Amino acid sequence: MDKLTIRGGIPLCGEIRISGAKNAALPILAATLLTDKPVLIGNIPHLHDITTTMELLGLMGSELMLDERMNIEVNNRNVDQLYAPYELVKTMRASILVLGPLLSRYGQAQVSLPGGCTIGSRPVDLHLKGLSAMGAEISVEDGYIHAHARRLHGAYINFDPVTVTGTENLMMAATLADGRTIIENAAREPEVMDLALCLNAMGAKITGAGTGRIEIEGVSQLNGARYDILPDRIETGTYLVAAAMTGGKVKLKNTDPSLLEAVLLKLREAGADITHDDTTISLAMEPGARPKAVDVYTSPFPGFPTDMQAQFTAMNCIAEGRAVITENIFNNRFLHVKELQKMGADLDLAESHVVINGVDRLTSSRITAKDLRASACLILAGLVAQGETLVEQVYHIDRGYETIEEKLMQLGAHIRRLP
Ligand code: UD1
Repeated sequence: MDKLTIRGGIPLCGEIRISGAKNAALPILAATLLTDKPVLIGNIPHLHDITTTMELLGLMGSELMLDERMNIEVNNRNVDQLYAPYELVKTMRASILVLGPLLSRYGQAQVSLPGGCTIGSRPVDLHLKGLSAMGAEISVEDGYIHAHARRLHGAYINFDPVTVTGTENLMMAATLADGRTIIENAAREPEVMDLALCLNAMGAKITGAGTGRIEIEGVSQLNGARYDILPDRIETGTYLVAAAMTGGKVKLKNTDPSLLEAVLLKLREAGADITHDDTTISLAMEPGARPKAVDVYTSPFPGFPTDMQAQFTAMNCIAEGRAVITENIFNNRFLHVKELQKMGADLDLAESHVVINGVDRLTSSRITAKDLRASACLILAGLVAQGETLVEQVYHIDRGYETIEEKLMQLGAHIRRLP
């Protein structure tokens, strides 16, 4: 299994290009199942989760064509296996996103219950409840969801709690349902909005995406379209934190500052000088300065994203002062804490809070990545640690960060992948 070695202590400086957003690409690839016409998707990130999704679609009978610029053309005229097997779904929880489209277009689906990141219990009960309200008959047997519906009908859904993939699954299902669906307390994440824009480009009638109330008027069929995925706000935030922690100066291109205002605010509070235009963000730290400690309280968009919590935990480990991190979305998302303690960080974990007293420096250690964002956090810690840090089980990082070691090397980091 791949490992990364990182020699810390180098301020990151330079320019890199941000990739397309994983969390938009996955639902948009699933959305292609709603039409028998070709859909061309651009700005797809080169990630393991994308390969898994392509494999899943391929098993169902999708024809996929990928070019060297990571544009994917998907043609779903011959899909005949309405089935998502455990072997694939266990590696990527977002596979659940095929359930709504399959059921809506073909009237049936069999999808394994998901696995994915080990960040606490992540049920899909709200997806199933919503589809039932739209007329689906659903049973769960031997770890598989079996769903049937002659034709889904519109329904009033009110999510509690708000769920991102739940909103996406039901929004997709509703596009071909009979009548109007209202999703109240809908997720407002930019990736939900991106999916809605793509579905509308395919002929869906969706209004309100990006707000807490989405309305979908069902149509009889969807068409092909061409759509470019929005930039990855979590990848953007991760490189900004890396630069802030190492006292560096970076320019990130092909991104969008309006997608991560809560994160930029916290970085400024930590002492970073941030400037931007519509597609570029530059961050500079005063040479030699440590970041200041900043409290973090995760909440659904437009609040501070849970997917940036681990990276800010790492930054606070070497910050000046004391910070409290509160995780409100997932109940076991502190797998990185033990590993950071091995590196000499001063963290105290109690239920959904971590109290961090910043230290001058971290020391290198052999540490293990246990989920996607925890992996990013440990790499960031390695970038500031004295000596050579070995991060094991980095396959998690390949699920969500395109060519991370190349991008970090481009910024001057000493990082190497070992088999
Ligand atoms: C998505 C993102 C993930 C991000 C998360 C929160 C994708 C592919 N993944 O995950 O990167 O960390 O949003 O921003 O977009 N819940 C239920 N029942 C359900 C569904 C969810 O109780 O049926 C709970 C979850 O346990 C969790 C909360 O709702 O506590 C939010 O989860 P959700 O928004 O669904 O996360 P994902 O969509 O899985």
